[in-house]
Amino acid sequence: MEKTYLMVKPDGVQRGLVGEIVARFEKKGFQLVGAKLMSVSKETAEQHYAEHKERPFFGELVDFITSSPVFAMVWEGENVIATARQMMGSTNPKDAAPGTIRGDFGVTVGKNIIHGSDSPESAEREISIFFKEEELTTYNKQI
Ligand code: CMP
Repeated sequence: MEKTYLMVKPDGVQRGLVGEIVARFEKKGFQLVGAKLMSVSKETAEQHYAEHKERPFFGELVDFITSSPVFAMVWEGENVIATARQMMGSTNPKDAAPGTIRGDFGVTVGKNIIHGSDSPESAEREISIFFKEEELTTYNKQI
């Protein structure tokens, strides 16, 4: 079954949006298979955002994600990567539709509440950066 890496960023944690965000993915029908509140080290942040290394905002991005705890999650389900991205809305909250997480709660692109993997390759890479295999569970959904 497909898995994705989702992370409530420091702004989402500080604004008390973890429960709201988890509830949206639960109600949609996806399965939570791993989760933890954690501080992100500079090394982990640089590894996670390696593709943005040359961007002018890279330093700001790393500083922000390491500034206070994030809520790291792995979700499982059919087409969960693309569907979670739809539920998150556009990267820049000003373009995100109402009803999406960023559309409902975000204002600026740097503090856009949530990160989600954009492809199966990114999902695999990001899950392995943030979780050890033994931190993930599998269970049969009964309903
Ligand atoms: P995310 O999905 O975590 O992936 C990369 C992040 O870079 C993105 O969300 C934004 O929060 C951030 N980002 C993109 N563009 C800018 C920008 N112009 N200034 C600051 N941060 C940005």
